[in-house]
Amino acid sequence: MRGSCVARANIALAKYWGKSDEALNLPAVPSVSLTLDALRTETTVTRDPSLTEDVVTLDGQALEGDGAAKVSRFLDRIRAHTTLRDAGDRFARVETQNHFPSASGLASSASGFAALAGAAARAYDVTLDHDALSALARQGSASAARSIYGGWVELPAGVPGDASLAARAIFPADHWDVSLVIALVTRAPKSVASRDGMRRTAKTSPYYAAWLASAPILAAQVRDAIERRDLEAVGAAMEASTFAMHASAWAAQPGVRYIRGLTLDLLDRVENLRRHGTGVWATMDAGPHVKALCLSSDAESVASALRGVGGVVEVRIARPGAGIDVS
Ligand code: PMV
Repeated sequence: MRGSCVARANIALAKYWGKSDEALNLPAVPSVSLTLDALRTETTVTRDPSLTEDVVTLDGQALEGDGAAKVSRFLDRIRAHTTLRDAGDRFARVETQNHFPSASGLASSASGFAALAGAAARAYDVTLDHDALSALARQGSASAARSIYGGWVELPAGVPGDASLAARAIFPADHWDVSLVIALVTRAPKSVASRDGMRRTAKTSPYYAAWLASAPILAAQVRDAIERRDLEAVGAAMEASTFAMHASAWAAQPGVRYIRGLTLDLLDRVENLRRHGTGVWATMDAGPHVKALCLSSDAESVASALRGVGGVVEVRIARPGAGIDVS
């Protein structure tokens, strides 16, 4: 009747942006990510026969409207595996706690849908292996497919119609001791949801075709460089992927721009650190925050340099983390 799951956010080093199949939520390009220890989501799903609909809370606040409907639709996919579609104990209470700001480009949908998949499968007594959970989580948010696994993870591009697409772990968390130093630019929610930003980019950006052509090459470079533990090569390909993704979005009509002034100040600081000999490279997702990749031995000094950039709200250090824990 009850399942709990802890999942951790992941940050893409080679970005996913754009879908090959909107209905199945399949990515148009391959992506490569690192699951992080510091950004955790905990979700508990409790089936309750007294309920006449699903009740969803996020960080203690009732979730209504589109957000709650999306969670219910997700639960329907789990319930479709059971025989209790019409039974009284169909509905559930879903309680989620994010240990970082939600919906601000800090990958809360990734850990959120991964945690929901694990907790709901347990609560509804549906046995799914990690591959099946990853494919399921992907339907909530494609990046969530990657958070099922710990360490270094790849999500291939989806062939339209292939509902089974799942992420796969490529190297374990202890493959390489790097850190992502995360500089928060604001606590406000992001301006354009990634789903809408991608759609607008695909429909209107003259650079979308160029993005589709370059993303698989960059993803292969990131993957090979991770295998060799070559930080400079990972960093260069990660920045190229980041800037190509943001440029394709920025060229949409109207432009989808996640980068703010403070984002640029942080990028300047990262470049400056690099000029002075620290191996550090930056990435941004569908939000203004900057995540700087470096060796863990440099993480404290990178964090203090980023803390020194005026206006930065918070800086945290995240290390490679584990996949989901279901209980
Ligand atoms: O899966 P979504 O809808 O949260 O989109 C994720 C998009 C990026 O974070 C920008 C890139 C990525 O691969 O995580």
